[in-house]
Amino acid sequence: MEKPISIVTGKFRSNNHSNVWFVVPLFSILCFVLLCFDYSALSGTNTDTDNTSFSFSDTTQKSISNEFTKDSNFSKLLDDPLPDSCSGRYIYLHDLPSRFNRDLLENCSLITPGTEKNICPYIDNFGFGPEIVNSENVLLKQSWFNTNQFMLEVIFHNKMMKYSCLTHNSSLASAVFVPFYAGLDMSRYLWGFNISVRDSSSHELMNWLVKQKEWSRMSGRDHFLVAGRIAWDFRRQTDNESDWGSKLRFLPESQNMSMMSIESSSWNNDYAVPYPTCFHPSSADEIVEWQERMRAHKRAYLFAFAGAPRPEYKDSVRGKIIDECLESGNDCYLLDCNYGKVNCDNPVNVMKVFRNSVFCLQPPGDSYTRRSMFDSILAGCIPVFFHPGTAFAQYKWHLPKNHKSYSVYLPVKDVKEWDIKIKERLSEISEEKVVRLREEVIKLIPKVVYADPSYGSEGNEDAFELALKGMFERIEEVREMMRQGKDGSEGFDDRDDYKYTFSPYEAQIWT
Ligand SMILES: *[C@@H]1O[C@H](CO)[C@@H](O)[C@H](O)[C@H]1NC(C)=O
Ligand SMILES: *[C@@H]1O[C@H](CO)[C@@H](O)[C@H](O)[C@H]1NC(C)=O
Ligand SMILES: *[C@@H]1O[C@H](CO)[C@@H](O)[C@H](O)[C@H]1NC(C)=O
Ligand SMILES: *[C@@H]1O[C@H](CO)[C@@H](O)[C@H](O)[C@H]1NC(C)=O
Ligand SMILES: *[C@@H]1O[C@H](CO)[C@@H](O)[C@H](O)[C@H]1NC(C)=O
Ligand SMILES: *[C@@H]1O[C@H](CO)[C@@H](O)[C@H](O)[C@H]1NC(C)=O
Ligand SMILES: *[C@@H]1O[C@H](CO)[C@@H](O)[C@H](O)[C@H]1NC(C)=O
Repeated sequence: MEKPISIVTGKFRSNNHSNVWFVVPLFSILCFVLLCFDYSALSGTNTDTDNTSFSFSDTTQKSISNEFTKDSNFSKLLDDPLPDSCSGRYIYLHDLPSRFNRDLLENCSLITPGTEKNICPYIDNFGFGPEIVNSENVLLKQSWFNTNQFMLEVIFHNKMMKYSCLTHNSSLASAVFVPFYAGLDMSRYLWGFNISVRDSSSHELMNWLVKQKEWSRMSGRDHFLVAGRIAWDFRRQTDNESDWGSKLRFLPESQNMSMMSIESSSWNNDYAVPYPTCFHPSSADEIVEWQERMRAHKRAYLFAFAGAPRPEYKDSVRGKIIDECLESGNDCYLLDCNYGKVNCDNPVNVMKVFRNSVFCLQPPGDSYTRRSMFDSILAGCIPVFFHPGTAFAQYKWHLPKNHKSYSVYLPVKDVKEWDIKIKERLSEISEEKVVRLREEVIKLIPKVVYADPSYGSEGNEDAFELALKGMFERIEEVREMMRQGKDGSEGFDDRDDYKYTFSPYEAQIWT
């Protein structure tokens, strides 16, 4: 029987030996964050794209087609709104006191204490960040931005404000969105602040929420939050000052709510949605154009890895991968993201390598997940996973259930027994199979992007719309339970560590 992972001070510590790479010093988390907040590639230009956006009507329709094709009758449908097209999809958007969201942006320089760069430029353009002006012909001319990977809560809120099925009448609403910038709020206090400071906004928010009339209908079970950090950051399990993060998600009110974030936790009311990448298309045509480019691109490398070789990773999966990459000569490209080398926050640098590679290796890092796997999908580079927690156990609303249809899985239960010869394993995969996998990856592109808020329609759903769809379905299940006279709490916030173990996921067999 596999033992579950337990979380200690915000890092991942295992009860057995299969997950030793999660034991990282606080220092490396700091490095990770510093790295993510490395803005050195930014020119400082602040192009306002608010009015350059594609002018699709916001009206969301039932679409007859689920395929994302250029010649769909998509725009034609928009002229012909169906009467109750919002039925079952109405959202009530809570107008929170500004200290829970807008004030944080206004005082954005407080969000990254201890880093010399500030997060302010990343707030522009709906949270997409500054538009990339010089893309060296690697990217499309527009729709690419320097997006910070922690901006999901800002992006989500901005998209929600343009959502076509908002209602002021909360009794019509299928769900209640609470636009608290939980990750940005906590980023101010992650280092050097005591737990009462770290938890203060969480307490204030919950006190405010339960007083609103929307709360009582389902005791909060139709409410949801969105956070731009991993869910573990909000799951501090003790009040030991040395423990990591806040206990937002363990407050009794919060336990009745759902939260989406870039990586979920072991609790069933946490849901994972894609990291924001740097591509935010503003039309169906742009997506098709990008897909066609990636489909046609010649790929010189069998595989690639983007990440920083760091001494503390020597005996981790990451360390082994770097070793094998270096040993594979021209078959592997190592994109070294260390300081002073290549800036991996700049999508030009990442896309140059990924679009040139057949496979992209996605080992767990400081946590299970990485934004890089979504970069790999954008580039039509088939992701290679080593742990089920990196994707299969996470993005269930966005990725196909059959992980073999779009990825390669080389499970590493114990890095001490590492015997994968990556190059050999990947070379075994037939060209025909590679083409099929790549096509599935390319088909995922529209589902993992956060499109320009003025664009979007059911049937051509982006990451935001798929997330809402998942949320509506989940809340409807609870509502159904309540109709049957139960209180809706059954299984709602249960803990399930099993989903992050190796057992539920079938290993890959190629022959
Ligand atoms: C955007 O707005 C500015 C000022 O309102 C205007 O000068 C510019 O032409 C607009 N751009 C587009 C593409 O509409
Ligand atoms: C659009 O719809 C019309 C009929 O509603 C159909 O005749 C036509 O072939 C469709 N066009 C495309 C590109 O699907
Ligand atoms: C910004 O921070 C300063 C100093 O902490 C505070 O006085 C001010 O009220 C804050 N502004 C907003 C809009 O929160
Ligand atoms: C809100 O919706 C409910 C249910 O449809 C309806 O009975 C009520 O009159 C609406 N309230 C307002 C203020 O429109
Ligand atoms: C936590 O820190 C705040 C401000 O730094 C301080 O006012 C408060 O007394 C501290 N609380 C505890 C319990 O130490
Ligand atoms: C708090 O955590 C530290 C480090 O893990 C440990 O040494 C200490 O004993 C803990 N304190 C309490 C009160 O549990
Ligand atoms: C959470 O839900 C349970 C029942 O499902 C309810 O008893 C409890 O009061 C709710 N908590 C809050 C803070 O509303």
